[in-house]
Amino acid sequence: MSDINWSSLPFGYYKTDWNVRCYYRNGKWGELEFTQSEEITMHMAATCLHYGQEAFEGMKAFRGVDNKIRLFRPYENAKRMHRTAEGIMMSPVPEELFVKACIEVVKRNERFVPPAGSGASLYLRPLLIGTGAEVGVKPADEYLFVVFVGPVGPYFKEGFKPVKFQIVEDFDRAAPLGTGTYKVGGNYAASLYSGQRAHDEGFSNCIYLDAIHKKYIDEAGAANFFGIKNNTYCTPKSPSILPSITNMSLRQLAKDLGMTVEERPIPVEELSTFEEVAACGTAAVISPICTIQDRGTGKVYDYGTEAGPVCKKLYDTLTGIQEGKVEDTHNWNLIIE
Ligand code: PLP
Ligand code: COI
Repeated sequence: MSDINWSSLPFGYYKTDWNVRCYYRNGKWGELEFTQSEEITMHMAATCLHYGQEAFEGMKAFRGVDNKIRLFRPYENAKRMHRTAEGIMMSPVPEELFVKACIEVVKRNERFVPPAGSGASLYLRPLLIGTGAEVGVKPADEYLFVVFVGPVGPYFKEGFKPVKFQIVEDFDRAAPLGTGTYKVGGNYAASLYSGQRAHDEGFSNCIYLDAIHKKYIDEAGAANFFGIKNNTYCTPKSPSILPSITNMSLRQLAKDLGMTVEERPIPVEELSTFEEVAACGTAAVISPICTIQDRGTGKVYDYGTEAGPVCKKLYDTLTGIQEGKVEDTHNWNLIIE
């Protein structure tokens, strides 16, 4: 598509040619159905509308320097959506069906996969919703699985330029024994108010603290948090954060680079000891952080206005693998033939 200005794409919805759907009815999943419609018709008593039976995923396809299209670790997203579905009593999408739907929908929208080096990628949004009608609080007996795609640019307008985050004590995104480890819409609804307030106060997003002690770093908006010091990659271990596939990959790349990796509770005060800090996720990739301000205490942690050397190295390695420029030694890419 020559009329798309790839390098100025925002992270947002973009209409493409096809999306794919699959229905769970009478106790089984049906066939993949491809459609050009952007709409879903459903019963007004569908459980996704009332009781939040909704799960989603976020993943990306990249056009490599060899012009091949690569999906990054789609089986990990398939597994996570499976876990999420079980967590909120939805019929899980079989992992092979999930990956097949992703491959097929990318193929049918090939002209929207941005060129290598444009800084853009094709974002895939798998979605699973309870469509069966219920008024009692119970799981639906029918589900709809959809995958739509669209070309996207950077999640934060700054791209790889460091962004500002605000620590909030007066909001929780998720509770330790709640749904924080699942990718359900309700967690994002719970983050909208604090996220908007952070924007209004001049920050890219908030950093949430653990809901019990308000002492440890939890989630960084819609991304995981990591900090670097003394050749060590430190990232929170918490029962209320989403297990990020990007973070899992970065932990491996950090090990490959000879770094120590620590997954453990990270107290807020430890922020003053990090050389570099960042948010990571499919949409955020690695978003280095220049400033963190604690909204409660007013304390400010500064990390400099340029991305640090470890963030740069990790970013170049991760995006290099995704674009086919760096050897994919862990077999993370699924090449779409
Ligand atoms: N945490 C939250 C709350 C998210 O929404 C995301 C995005 O998917 C992540 C972390 C990062 O996860 P991943 O790297 O698998 O995209
Ligand atoms: C992602 O990184 O894919 C996300 O889901 C984050 C956000 C856009 C919800």
